[in-house]
Amino acid sequence: MLQRNRNFVLREYNEDKWPLVIDLLKKQKESGDNNLTRALNNINKEFRNKSNKNFIDIIFDKQEVKLSVDFSISGNQSFICKKIIDKCNEKTEAIIEIGSGYGRNLFWTWLYGAPKNIKYFGLEFTKSGRIAADTLASMEKSIDYKSLSFNFYKPNFDFLNSIKGHIIFVTVHSIEQIPKLDIEFFKKIIELKNNVDCIHFEPIGWQIKPNNFKKGSSQQYAKMNDYNTNLFSLLQKLKEKKLISIQEILPNFICINQKNGTSVLSWRPS
Ligand SMILES: C[S@@+](CC[C@H](N)C(=O)[O-])C[C@H]1O[C@@H](n2cnc3c(N)ncnc32)[C@H](O)[C@@H]1O
Repeated sequence: MLQRNRNFVLREYNEDKWPLVIDLLKKQKESGDNNLTRALNNINKEFRNKSNKNFIDIIFDKQEVKLSVDFSISGNQSFICKKIIDKCNEKTEAIIEIGSGYGRNLFWTWLYGAPKNIKYFGLEFTKSGRIAADTLASMEKSIDYKSLSFNFYKPNFDFLNSIKGHIIFVTVHSIEQIPKLDIEFFKKIIELKNNVDCIHFEPIGWQIKPNNFKKGSSQQYAKMNDYNTNLFSLLQKLKEKKLISIQEILPNFICINQKNGTSVLSWRPS
């Protein structure tokens, strides 16, 4: 049975996936092309649109629709960007993605029109993810993006000490990687003195509505891949203790992979 432990994650992301992104970016930079949008699109073309089908069946807002793969990938990204931007206000000082990989979500969100002059942090476990993100950041001088090392199992938010304003935490299929998240992770966020909003895009539809959905996500698939099994129950516990309020829950909202589709959940400390 697969065990998503430290070695497994390092092999999958630090050694296999993110170095390919670094190589692609290096080639683009060496050719004299420093365009961030083109870099992100090249990554999509090379690594994300792997299907040889023209059309795929996806779930969007409970409806099954047939869409082109490019349309699905771009639409999904735009949806994520829009949801993050909707959380911004005039006091927002930083947007922080945790488990950020090569940083695509924050770079796209910035390009999509998120506040230009705030801080962006990509907190990532793997060195190669951080290098890839730093390479992307070097292509766009006006984005204030910083990669930092982070481990969900030992959460540390000391880097936020100098930030006093509103902050937004984002996760996109990264808590997925943590079979059992410790409640301490959320407690550290709740203890921050800042005004905080959190939004998760994670495959937890089956945790939210165990019996209602046959497609989108399932406990069986999560167990098979040793994906997260307790994100929703932790947040429910914190809500019952009145430590947080939940703003929005959209189970299995966008499912490009119908077995591991994305639910959206946003909350804030009360
Ligand atoms: C499926 S990828 C998603 C990356 C990014 N959020 C995205 O949407 O492109 C999962 C990411 O979680 C990171 N990750 C896995 N275990 C982690 C841990 N213990 N702490 C922080 N990040 C972790 C992996 O290195 C990887 O970059």
